Amino acid sequence: MYDPWVLYARGLITAPNLVLAGIVGSGKSSLAKSLYTRSLPFGRRVYVPGDPKGEHTAVAEAVGGRAIILGRGLSTRLNPLDEGYRPSSMSDETWSSTVASRRRDLLGALAETVLTRPLSPLEHTAIDTALSATVRGNDVPILPMIVDHILSPESTSDPDGRLAEDGRMVGHALRRLVAGDLAGLFDGPSTVTFDPTLPMISLDLSRVAENSTLISVLMTCSSAWMESALLDPNGGQRWCIYDEAWRLMSHPALLKRMDAHWRLARHYGIANMLIFHKLTDLENVGDQGSAMRSLANGLLANAETRIIYRQESDQLGTTARALGLTSTEQKLLPGLGVGQGLWRIKDRSFVCQHQLHPAELDLFDTTTRMTS
Ligand SMILES: Nc1ncnc2c1ncn2[C@@H]1O[C@H](COP(=O)(O)OP(=O)(O)OP(=O)(O)O)[C@@H](O)[C@H]1O
Ligand SMILES: [Mg+2]
Repeated sequence: MYDPWVLYARGLITAPNLVLAGIVGSGKSSLAKSLYTRSLPFGRRVYVPGDPKGEHTAVAEAVGGRAIILGRGLSTRLNPLDEGYRPSSMSDETWSSTVASRRRDLLGALAETVLTRPLSPLEHTAIDTALSATVRGNDVPILPMIVDHILSPESTSDPDGRLAEDGRMVGHALRRLVAGDLAGLFDGPSTVTFDPTLPMISLDLSRVAENSTLISVLMTCSSAWMESALLDPNGGQRWCIYDEAWRLMSHPALLKRMDAHWRLARHYGIANMLIFHKLTDLENVGDQGSAMRSLANGLLANAETRIIYRQESDQLGTTARALGLTSTEQKLLPGLGVGQGLWRIKDRSFVCQHQLHPAELDLFDTTTRMTS
């Protein structure tokens, strides 16, 4: 039996977060699905803030939850700039500055990811100015308005045209989210509301075009929408599942956003589960010794439950070093079968076989598409 909230309540771990790594097809997603569905009878809820393979949709529907499917030609939109959950105790002033900084962070992270470089101070100013101008004129800003304001700022804030010049690259980077094949997903007011009474909500991105950077950007938009709704301290104990987390973690700006969210999670009763292929997915972020690298290591350190499924033999050394594995533990990893893993809970370790109920096997199956 494993329950991160119980371990946390007993003081055995200091954060309920979990990292799960293993090669393709080793049974990671199946384990995630069992952990979260089996926790539903205990009153936990489940959120999948971006599911690029759409494999949690059937589970969400089977447990009486909802999958929100996003894709070209579908009418569903999510606005990542939504205000989200507002704590009743918060003053208007604090609330608007909280929302503004959340939006600023998101826009900056999206632009940096598309541009694959950090933004300059001038570019941050361009985003800031556009955001304030948009918020002044509208209750709920949407991405196209921000892009318009970045590309053509109001003349009062840009008398000599230099702000427009400074924001050009950022404007065009963000434009990719509102034009072309990504139009219609995150560029209008939300068409769905977040229903906190459902046992499970999953955002299905499987119908969205496959392009690694853009998928990451879209996962960021969808998680931003969901995360803002999750910041309710009375929302109960909730799982937040980042399947295919390596997509997000491979971009420094997105990793930074994630790290901030991850740190907050505990106060909201949220247990994050991050799913990777290998731990070096985290280590490949940024250069050795860079700030990003230490963020990635911090993330790992912050997850006191690390489940290691089968690893390729060239990964054994790095995995063992990152987790401080003994040589016995290390030797075990290449021989693990599907659904078998080394569970490290703080300094204790266990080898576990994940036993699927036939009904689970049926519902969780990801191989039928390949074999039927
Ligand atoms: N514990 C288990 N017992 C028996 N079969 C399992 C178990 N876990 C997974 N499987 C089988 O292996 C298949 C692949 O599992 P799963 O999709 O969970 O792998 P994964 O590690 O998430 O793969 P990927 O890296 O491609 O996302 C499942 O469809 C299921 O049929
Ligand atoms: Mg999987």
